[in-house]
Amino acid sequence: MATTSAPEDAYTATPFLPAGRPSLAALRRAAAGCRGCPLHRNATQTVFGQGSAHARVMLVGEQPGDQEDRQGEPFVGPAGRLLGKALEEAGLDPADAYVTNAVKHFKFTWAETRKRRIHKPPTLREMSACGPWLAAELTVVAPELVVVLGATAGKALLGSSFRVGEVRGTVLEREIHGRPERLVPTVHPSSVLRADDREHAYQGLVADLRVAAQALS
Ligand code: URA
Repeated sequence: MATTSAPEDAYTATPFLPAGRPSLAALRRAAAGCRGCPLHRNATQTVFGQGSAHARVMLVGEQPGDQEDRQGEPFVGPAGRLLGKALEEAGLDPADAYVTNAVKHFKFTWAETRKRRIHKPPTLREMSACGPWLAAELTVVAPELVVVLGATAGKALLGSSFRVGEVRGTVLEREIHGRPERLVPTVHPSSVLRADDREHAYQGLVADLRVAAQALS
């Protein structure tokens, strides 16, 4: 059994995964008790993926944000609202997607006033510790297409040399955890919210998502 005092290179969710061929519901229950890395200590709860096990498309983000941590669901905050709008504009029904994150706990620091929690990117070790949950979700959902939202999701799925700018808006074919996957990378919706030219960044996201919609048709 993993312990919370494990050295960084021993972080892993593997001992917390149910044996056999667990359903999404069984995975979600087990993930709620994951202690595979220290991120569970400060987060409110595990934020597991949401959506149908029969979804044709899986959207993979970075990690839950402040709102997601409080509500226990992925992409329910400002980035999620923007993503929902962009998906609809691109012709993808958000209700038909399985939505998840590379890392299932919110990582943050407190602002000096201790009134606000500031998102902190996960390390490669934390991403790989959490990888078994994402691999299990991919096995159960077996999506026709994976939309990779930003650099963290890209590194978690495609390796540390992933650069979103080099491959965004293209259909990649890669073997991931022994399964052939088709993936369309794009920027993370939070980067659109932070962009100086928000409209331009938003249209870029929609254009990439249109590539995903076309790949599914
Ligand atoms: N950003 C993410 O990557 N995932 C969420 O669930 C929310 C914000």
